[in-house]
Order: sequence, then structure tokens, then C-alpha cells
Amino acid sequence: MRLVAGNWKMNGSPAAVTDLVAGLTQRLRAAEVGCTAAVCPPAHLLAAAVAAAGAGLAVGSQDCSDEAGPGAFTGEISAFMLAETGCRYAIVGHSERRQRHGESNTLVRAKASRALAAGLVPIVCVGETLKQREAGDAAAVVSEQVQESLPEGWSTDTLVIAYEPVWAIGTGLTATAADIAEMHSAIGAVMGSRRAAILYGGSVKPGNAAEILGTEGVNGALIGGASLKLDDFWGIVTAA
Ligand code: PGA
Repeated sequence: MRLVAGNWKMNGSPAAVTDLVAGLTQRLRAAEVGCTAAVCPPAHLLAAAVAAAGAGLAVGSQDCSDEAGPGAFTGEISAFMLAETGCRYAIVGHSERRQRHGESNTLVRAKASRALAAGLVPIVCVGETLKQREAGDAAAVVSEQVQESLPEGWSTDTLVIAYEPVWAIGTGLTATAADIAEMHSAIGAVMGSRRAAILYGGSVKPGNAAEILGTEGVNGALIGGASLKLDDFWGIVTAA
């Protein structure tokens, strides 16, 4: 099943949950779509999002702790707590966390393992910087991230990878279809005979969604900015 997930980042409010989550639920009830849709609001809105989301809409977190807990880990939320709240997915290793919080592949793998153990599907994010792409290292960098970030014991149904070139996030720039296909194929090669869904992320909008989602090896999309507007996110969901 294809997946279109909206990463709200540090945006949203109780009113946005009503508008977006309830609005999406209503539209999903009325239409048949060829993908699973998910929203990943900030942690304080997760319970409200779960309450507002109907059967066709999944909820995910933007992160989880690398500790199993419970315990003295101020500010952290364990994967188990997120599962208990009703989350189905947990984004881990988003480039904004890798860059702003120095998250290493080792830490991302630990978080993904906790998510898996709690019954969540980790969405493991990988992606190269512009400098790495310009140096011709994109495939090597991303392959290494995948190799080192994937948890033990994942299976096709319990893991999702999101390929998000760092330079395409929030910039309006997107990778070409050829580049996306090449990177998704490189990621697939690392996974070997098992194949988890690979999402593309980075400035996906209703206008470019059909082309990106139709690219070989693309099993869905991780959406930032466009997931904050009901019509835009819905346009991408229906394109999938
Ligand atoms: P964007 O963000 O769609 O705003 O580029 C994507 C992401 O960070 O997941």
C-alpha cells in the first residue's frame, strides 16, 4: 500500500486538528483513494488528532525516544507511549533532527528499534546535502545512512524509508525524476531481497505530485509545507 504522510513539524494548533484532521477524515470517507494517508502533528496534538481521525487516516509522531522507558528522561516520549496514544507511525531521523540535534545513524537506528518494538512503523528518513550531491556522493551517503539506520528485525510491512534530499526540503526545489529513481534504486539495493516502501520527500506539492508519485521505485511521499493546507494535502493524496 502506498503511503502519503504529512509532517506538520512545529506547526499546528487544536483548531488545525479540527480543520485538517477532521476535514481529511470527511474527504476520505467520501472518496476512494489508492494510498494510506497519515498526519504527523506535534506531540501535544497527537491525542486530539487520533480522536479526530477516522478509520482511513493514520496518525504518526515526528520522533520518539531511543530509550524504552519509563524512566528519568526529561522531555522525551517513548515509542510505547506514542503507540498507547494511538499512533501507527513514528518518523525518525528527519534531516532537521539530524542537523539541528546532531542525530547520528546509530541514534536513529536505536529510535527505529524502539518504534518497531512498540508496534509502530518507523519512517526512517535519509537524504544527502547539496554539497554531498555536488561532490557526486549522494548515492554513497544515502546507502550508508540506510545501512546504519535500519533496525534489526524489520520486515516489508513494519518499516518505511523516506528519501528526502536535504536541499529539496522546504526550498521549492525537487530532484529530477531520474535522480529520484536512481536514489530509490540505490536504497532498494541496500535492502536486498526484502523491500520496504520508499517515500520521496522534499517540496512535494499538488502540482508535481503525480509525476513524483509515478516515478519508478516511489511508493508514496512525505509532505512538509503542503500538508498544512487541506486542499494541497488532499491533492497529493488523490494523486497517489
Ligand atoms: P517540505 O518538507 O515538503 O516542506 O519540503 C518535507 C519534509 O521535511 O518532510
